[in-house]
Amino acid sequence: MIKKVLFSLLTTCTALFAGFDVDFTTLISLKTWEVDDCFISFFQDPSGNNFVLKQIKEDSGDEQFLLVLDAVACHMAETIQTPMNRVIIIEPNASSPQKIKRGFPATLHKMALGKSTDQQGSYQNIDIHQRFRRKNSPKEEKWGVLSPEETGLTLTIIQEMAKHSDLAGIIALDTFVGNADRSPPNLFYDSVTDRFCGIDMAASFNSDLAKEACRQLQILIDKGIALSSKEKQALAKYAYTLEVLLQKYPPNLQEDLLLKFSQKAGFIEGSFLFNQDVIERIEHHKRCIKCNYEYSGQLVVLVHKLLQR
Ligand SMILES: Nc1ncnc2c1ncn2[C@@H]1O[C@H](COP(=O)(O)OP(=O)(O)O)[C@@H](O)[C@H]1O
Ligand SMILES: [Mg+2]
Repeated sequence: MIKKVLFSLLTTCTALFAGFDVDFTTLISLKTWEVDDCFISFFQDPSGNNFVLKQIKEDSGDEQFLLVLDAVACHMAETIQTPMNRVIIIEPNASSPQKIKRGFPATLHKMALGKSTDQQGSYQNIDIHQRFRRKNSPKEEKWGVLSPEETGLTLTIIQEMAKHSDLAGIIALDTFVGNADRSPPNLFYDSVTDRFCGIDMAASFNSDLAKEACRQLQILIDKGIALSSKEKQALAKYAYTLEVLLQKYPPNLQEDLLLKFSQKAGFIEGSFLFNQDVIERIEHHKRCIKCNYEYSGQLVVLVHKLLQR
C-alpha cells in the first residue's frame, strides 16, 4: 500500500512538472508499435482519456535528446495556446511500468484528436511543411538537394495557411523554433471539432527557418505577388503569433527551458546520456535559437510590408 502511495506521489509530481496530471497506476495499455526510430504505446485512463508514450530506440544521448526538443517546443506552444500536442517528460529513473526501455527517458503525450493529414480526409496532404536541408546532411543524402524555391515559407504554404484559422499559429511556431518536420503525419485534423493539432516537434531548434522565411517574403515583395484577402488575413495571424513568441521567449528563456527539460530527462553531469555529442548538440540548438529569434523580428516587419501593398 505504502509502495503504491509513494509510486502514485512520484508519478503525480512527475506529471505536474510541465502541465498535465496523470496517474500512471490507473492507465490501461491499448497497443504498442514500433516506428523507424521509436517505440510508441497507447494508453487510456479510467475517464477514457487517451495517451501516447514515446521512447527512442537508439541508446545514445544524442538521439535521446530528441525527446527534450519535442517537449520544450510543445510546452512553448501550450503557453501561447497554439494547437499542438501536450507533452510531459518521464524521468529515466521513474519506475513507470509503461516504459519499454528502463533507465531511459520517455515522453507522455495526450493523444491528438482525429487523424493525421496523410490519411484520407478533408485536409489530406495539406502542405504546411517548411522544408530545410543542410548541405551534406543525412537528410540531403536521403532526399536530394532542396532548391531555394522549395525551402522554408513558400507561396504554397501561405496559400495553404489561408485554408483554416488554426494553421497560421502552427506555421509561425514552426518558423520561430526552426521545426522543419511538419509533414502530413505530424499534423492531425479532427472533423468533429474542426481543429488541427500538430504533433512531433523533435526537429525543433535545428533549422534556420526564420531566415529562410525572410528570404522568401522578400522575393514575394520584389516580384509584387498579389495575395488574396484570406491569405493576407492568415499572414497577419502568422505575424501576430511571431510577435507573441518574440515577446514571451527571448533566447535566454528558450535556453533555460532547454536546460530545465534536459535535466528532467536525465541529461545531468555524470549520466551516460550527457556526453560530448550532447554538449555539442546543445551549442548547435542555442545558435539556432538566436538566429531564429533575430530573423523572426525582421520577418514581422516584412509581413507588414507585404500586407500594406
Ligand atoms: N500525440 C499523439 N497522438 C496521436 N498519435 C501520435 C501521437 N504522438 C505520436 N503518435 C503516433 O506515433 C507516430 C510516431 O510518433 P512521432 O512523434 O511522429 O515520432 P517519429 O515521427 O519521430 O517516429 C505518429 O506518426 C503517430 O501516428
Ligand atoms: Mg513524426
